[in-house]
Amino acid sequence: MRELFRMDRQNYNPDGKVYTRPSARAIIVKDGKVLLNYIKKFESYEFPGGGIEAGETPEQAMIREVAEETGRVVIPESVREFGIVIRRQQDSMDPDGIFEQRNYYYYCDITDEVVPRKPDEHELKEGAEPVFVDSLWGPIHCTRKAWNRIGEAFLEREYRVMDMVDNELRKTAWERTENEAIRALGEDDYEGMLTFVKETLGETQTEGESGVGVHKMEFGYTRFEHTKRVLAWSKRLYDATPDKTGLRYADLMIATIFHDVGRAVTAREGGNHATAGIPITKDYLLAHGYGEERAEYISWLVGAHSDKWRMKDPDVDRNLLMLMEADLLDDMGLLGIIMDTIIVRARKEKATFFDCFNHFERYTHPMQHDVPVVTPEALAFWNEKTEAVDHFIEFYRRDILIGSENYKEY
Ligand SMILES: [Fe+2]
Ligand SMILES: [Fe+2]
Repeated sequence: MRELFRMDRQNYNPDGKVYTRPSARAIIVKDGKVLLNYIKKFESYEFPGGGIEAGETPEQAMIREVAEETGRVVIPESVREFGIVIRRQQDSMDPDGIFEQRNYYYYCDITDEVVPRKPDEHELKEGAEPVFVDSLWGPIHCTRKAWNRIGEAFLEREYRVMDMVDNELRKTAWERTENEAIRALGEDDYEGMLTFVKETLGETQTEGESGVGVHKMEFGYTRFEHTKRVLAWSKRLYDATPDKTGLRYADLMIATIFHDVGRAVTAREGGNHATAGIPITKDYLLAHGYGEERAEYISWLVGAHSDKWRMKDPDVDRNLLMLMEADLLDDMGLLGIIMDTIIVRARKEKATFFDCFNHFERYTHPMQHDVPVVTPEALAFWNEKTEAVDHFIEFYRRDILIGSENYKEY
């Protein structure tokens, strides 16, 4: 089982006798709610579970403890490993010994059945009550506070594991929405294409510049994440456009998925990423049963997507224009603010609020106002972003200058 983290006090004789008391805990999510035990005594929460008894596997102990503590029945086939937390400290009984606790955590599902609880003496004393919570944020906060007050290691362990679970659940929920969005795209195998592009790009980050002479490489700007956002923008623009003459939905979606795939090549060899994307796109489409003509057209869209001068051409291909506008809409607005903040920090380790302010004023703000998009639909989205940036910078200016001697107005 993978190690989640280790809590090692290093306050023991490393050659001392090791006393172990392993335990197993359950992470149960039912109808979007997480099953926890509320511990009245500490005003804290923990995942249901407890000590592993002689002759028991961790899974068996976990299933038994869940029934005893919460009255719920775990479906044995649903049990899957999450990870293990190892705790080591001086033993409380034998000052020369080491207390080592391996805490096994499992994801599992429960049936609808409710059986009588059998809380042990310890649990009765602490006032343990099973609860379903909508979000782990509250429990994490309470348990962290309890840990600050009492300092018991199990409280630290539980809030840290809850935090990891919370992150994981959030990620899965996010991926679920993404997958639903992809399925809503239509008939073509977009999922297969995205997987191909994801694998081709790998961890490819952009070799391009952010317009301020700073490589976006300086932070984790992964091309695939950008691709998925642009795909959402293409879809949004398509839906928002009333006159669909000349638009080819599937071709637009496919071209968007492949638009930056050439970065995988140029990241290694340099050159123009749009052009580099042409053969990759074309080969993929031909190998997947798309006719010569469509493969040719879609790969042309990919190859032309960074010719920004084409946007001014009144006869520009509408699919190409939409792809270019979708591409441009990503990274702007508040994403741009965050990106530029990270860039400022990457350039200067001890960057201050003023450093960020200067950067926003000199680069972020003018870039947002240098509008490249042309269609009314893209403009509407662009203007929303501009409004957010203008507000942000205006209030940021007020908040930051209020303490400065140069600031006379307030
Ligand atoms: Fe591009
Ligand atoms: Fe792009």
